[in-house]
Amino acid sequence: MTNSTTRPAAGHARTACDTSTPCRPPTDFSAFAGQLVRSPAQIGAIAPSSRHLARAVCSPVPERGQPVVVELGAGTGPFTAEIQRRLDGRGRHLAIEVNATLAKLLRDRYPRVEVIQHDAAHLRQLLDERGIDRADVVISGLPWALFPAATQQQLMDATATVLGPSGSFTAFTYLHAVALTSAHRFRRLLAQRFEEVVPSRTIWRNTPPAFVLHARRPRP
Ligand SMILES: C[S@@+](CC[C@H](N)C(=O)[O-])C[C@H]1O[C@@H](n2cnc3c(N)ncnc32)[C@H](O)[C@@H]1O
Repeated sequence: MTNSTTRPAAGHARTACDTSTPCRPPTDFSAFAGQLVRSPAQIGAIAPSSRHLARAVCSPVPERGQPVVVELGAGTGPFTAEIQRRLDGRGRHLAIEVNATLAKLLRDRYPRVEVIQHDAAHLRQLLDERGIDRADVVISGLPWALFPAATQQQLMDATATVLGPSGSFTAFTYLHAVALTSAHRFRRLLAQRFEEVVPSRTIWRNTPPAFVLHARRPRP
């Protein structure tokens, strides 16, 4: 005998939050878009990064050893997933995300990652509280070109001071934003704080297309 309470009637389309079924979690795009509407100046992107961009951004994560990897502005976690794949259980992975909804999503999805809901400008203090002296790699998902000069400076200081002498920092920039004054200012800051800054080829398979900036050897 058919139990009519467990099956929808013929022709009755199930919605995502039908009372007879558990709510489906939001897709990354809808979770991201929801937060974009609430905090456009913090989110700073129209969609989560693609796996192609994630691979390019996360390439400095070493394949051996026990590195400390710090991720800034993890969002829905495209870089988080790639960092976890590369670490494969090694080292430590701290993801700093200021948005409470996104931080919860990351915690639920990546139990091995130390997700910290906080402003990345306080990075030194956040690492101190966890007994971490140095980071080997800092991977940024932050929308640098949207930040005013003082915020860029604060975040760059915070980043450069947690890296060891052979540490590396990676950020990405959207192609359409390269001409912005704030993007030029970010590039100048990078050049001031690191001995070497190498741009990648354009990653066309991302919305919008982007390129990566690999910075190495922070200046003291
Ligand atoms: C452009 S989105 C990128 C998200 C993800 N990394 C990706 O590539 O799809 C920027 C993220 O940085 C976060 N964010 C912005 N300012 C921040 C800050 N000061 N500290 C930590 N996270 C911040 C936003 O909440 C957002 O999730």
